[in-house]
Amino acid sequence: MKRNTITIGALLAFLSMGLVSFTTKSAIENNVKSLGNTEGEALFKAKCSSCHVSSKPEDMSKLLAPPIMGVMMHLKKGIEGKDEAEKRKNTIAFIIDYVQNPSAEKSFMEPHAIERFEVMPSQKENVTPEELDIIANYLYDNFPSKGMNHKKMKEGNKKESCGDGCGGCGGKCEH
Ligand code: HEC
Repeated sequence: MKRNTITIGALLAFLSMGLVSFTTKSAIENNVKSLGNTEGEALFKAKCSSCHVSSKPEDMSKLLAPPIMGVMMHLKKGIEGKDEAEKRKNTIAFIIDYVQNPSAEKSFMEPHAIERFEVMPSQKENVTPEELDIIANYLYDNFPSKGMNHKKMKEGNKKESCGDGCGGCGGKCEH
């Protein structure tokens, strides 16, 4: 009986150790994840948000570039991969390259967007590839937000304007 109690005690101790290390591990992972996001968000604000807004624009006519949720929606629609991991990798690689070497040929935005905003000026001088990697990961994981519904936004707006978040269509949305 005594032996059993000891065994059970040892087993419990062992299990709780496992539990503690498990919780600590996931807490650390969560922290790292949110840290990455905070850094990505801060870098995006500093380097990109002067042109790309990240919330519903008050006045579409004042925009300098498509809002970021519209950009990400178009990229996720246009860039493929054999699975989600590859799609993510390809999209992130595209963003890192495009920001440094933009061109109309590479663009996934609609032709109206390029016409309206013109090709993005290269940000090579303003952002390092390492910073871009953090920004691109942040963008992929956070935009468009789950609630974004392109069709609804379109219906909620006057015909000639594309919709509050999109803007990637340059104000003449056809999809
Ligand atoms: C000076 C204004 C400006 C800044 C700053 C800027 N962008 Fe842009 N960006 C644009 C414009 C305009 C477009 C739309 C035309 C185009 O797609 O080239 C665009 C388009 C894009 C696209 C769409 C690519 C495609 O398929 O056409 C991505 C991705 C993007 N920007 C990412 C970024 C990131 C990340 C940053 C910050 C490091 C950034 N931009 C900073 C103006 C800007």
